[in-house]
Amino acid sequence: MTPEPFRNEPVRELRRAGERVRLAAALDALELPVRVPVWIGDERRDGDELVSTDPSAPQRVVALAARATPEEAEAAVSTARAAFPDWAATPAEDRAAALLRAAGWMRARRAELAALAVRECAKPWAEADADVCEAIDFLEFYARGALELAAGTPLLQVPGERNDLHYAPRGVCAVIAPWNFPLAIPMGMTAAALATGNTAVLKPAEQAPACGLRVVEALRAGGVPAGAIALLPGEGDAGAALARNHDVATIAFTGSGPVGLELLRTAAEVAPGARQLTRVVAEMGGKNCIIVDSDADLDEAIPAIVESAFGYAGQKCSAAARVLAHEAIHDALVERLAGAVAGLQVGPADDFATDVPPVVERAAQERVRRYAQLAADEGTVVTPAQPVPGEGWYCAPVVAIGLPPDSAVLRDEIFGPLLSVESVRSVEEACDRIDALPVALTGGLFSRNPRTVQRVIDRSPVGNLYVNRSTTGAMVGRQPFGGNRLSGTGTKAGGRDYLLHFVEPRVVTENTVRHGLVV
Ligand SMILES: NC(=O)c1ccc[n+]([C@@H]2O[C@H](COP(=O)([O-])OP(=O)(O)OC[C@H]3O[C@@H](n4cnc5c(N)ncnc54)[C@H](O)[C@@H]3O)[C@@H](O)[C@H]2O)c1
Repeated sequence: MTPEPFRNEPVRELRRAGERVRLAAALDALELPVRVPVWIGDERRDGDELVSTDPSAPQRVVALAARATPEEAEAAVSTARAAFPDWAATPAEDRAAALLRAAGWMRARRAELAALAVRECAKPWAEADADVCEAIDFLEFYARGALELAAGTPLLQVPGERNDLHYAPRGVCAVIAPWNFPLAIPMGMTAAALATGNTAVLKPAEQAPACGLRVVEALRAGGVPAGAIALLPGEGDAGAALARNHDVATIAFTGSGPVGLELLRTAAEVAPGARQLTRVVAEMGGKNCIIVDSDADLDEAIPAIVESAFGYAGQKCSAAARVLAHEAIHDALVERLAGAVAGLQVGPADDFATDVPPVVERAAQERVRRYAQLAADEGTVVTPAQPVPGEGWYCAPVVAIGLPPDSAVLRDEIFGPLLSVESVRSVEEACDRIDALPVALTGGLFSRNPRTVQRVIDRSPVGNLYVNRSTTGAMVGRQPFGGNRLSGTGTKAGGRDYLLHFVEPRVVTENTVRHGLVV
């Protein structure tokens, strides 16, 4: 099987009325609440211990999920372990074909899946549609990547010797996912594990169990055997139970820094009698900065900064949190930014006119409001106090300036619609401030000087640097994505190298000089 070359799934053009009508109809047709079981092999246990609600209207229950127990985490791993030899021995072409069929399953349900992400995670329509497209992209991209990987790597050959390097799957992969890309991220990590012949147990975020269910349904509908992919809805303790299980060969995690670091520590403890080191693929948070130089085109910079900081209410790991503006344009930038942000519409995710949806849950709203208050106490908030809808976890978008260098607002990942702007004397000073951060996920630069651009590229520690554009919206195959330093283990989701984290290389060297024949 040689699939067509990879291309990104085209997003919907929401400016077309027909598209909006189709999506609104899919939202109306959604049957809620979705029942989300613990799903291990062919066994499904329904439950309602975990309640997932709509952040735009918290009285609306989106999913009722079973909460996996430690025993179920253990059963899921042992089922996945039992299924591993068969799935590992399945030809790479057949595994890829299953993933491509799963992509087809999702493609046929694009509107319905986007509607679910709108309801469950308050993703505005454009973001929800892009999330479905990215999930499809991951399936398509990793299916092709695994076929390439299965061909092995050419080695130097000399007479009398044959050298072969091939990649073998590692075993059971525990996939622990966040809620902010509720379809794309769990699908990406799971598809990478499965494409390369591992079996997987998916622990979706407690805020997005229904989307997690759809990920597993897509894979099973595509033909991934029931034993090879389990669904384990639950909270952090379910993830921790999975991570502690010594039959887990790989932990694929995307989420916050503290949890990622805990998983790295757990994995580093090698149990007596263990037969494998647990590998951790961790994608964590950041504190993403955008430098705006004195020669930047502010007409270009302002909308891109607004999109980077306030799209999906600042809840993308790639979202801009700090702007470091050259002192020559700082005041003009702040004035225009404040005006642009004051015009943003805060509202429910299902309203096509919404710019800033609610944040995901009450605790997130409280956190963001706490930091907004701190920003007002320690610096100056330049955006007007916008009224927000009463119901739902809304936060008004905030731009703050004049914060002291040691402010927690400049240090912590707030994960909400709060942007700070600092004045710097030079791009060099901005680079120093960025270099002082322990995290390095995304970064941005607005400059019209190619020498400045190159200087920032050379000095920038981040995993993804965006020049003269927004810092969000990485596309599979175009912008392999992932952070450095404490933002991640340096993996690049949606890139060629990503699959290497899910396999172990094996080299076979054979003496091909025959000394007689065995008859
Ligand atoms: N670098 C990236 O590519 C990337 C992408 C998306 C999100 N993120 C980060 O994710 C965070 C937001 O997501 P979140 O709020 O879901 O993160 P989170 O760390 O709270 O949760 C992520 C997952 O880990 C589970 N979990 C929680 N405690 C655990 C524990 N002790 N052991 C094992 N699992 C545990 C959760 O239940 C969830 O499934 C932000 O920090 C964001 O920057 C990073």
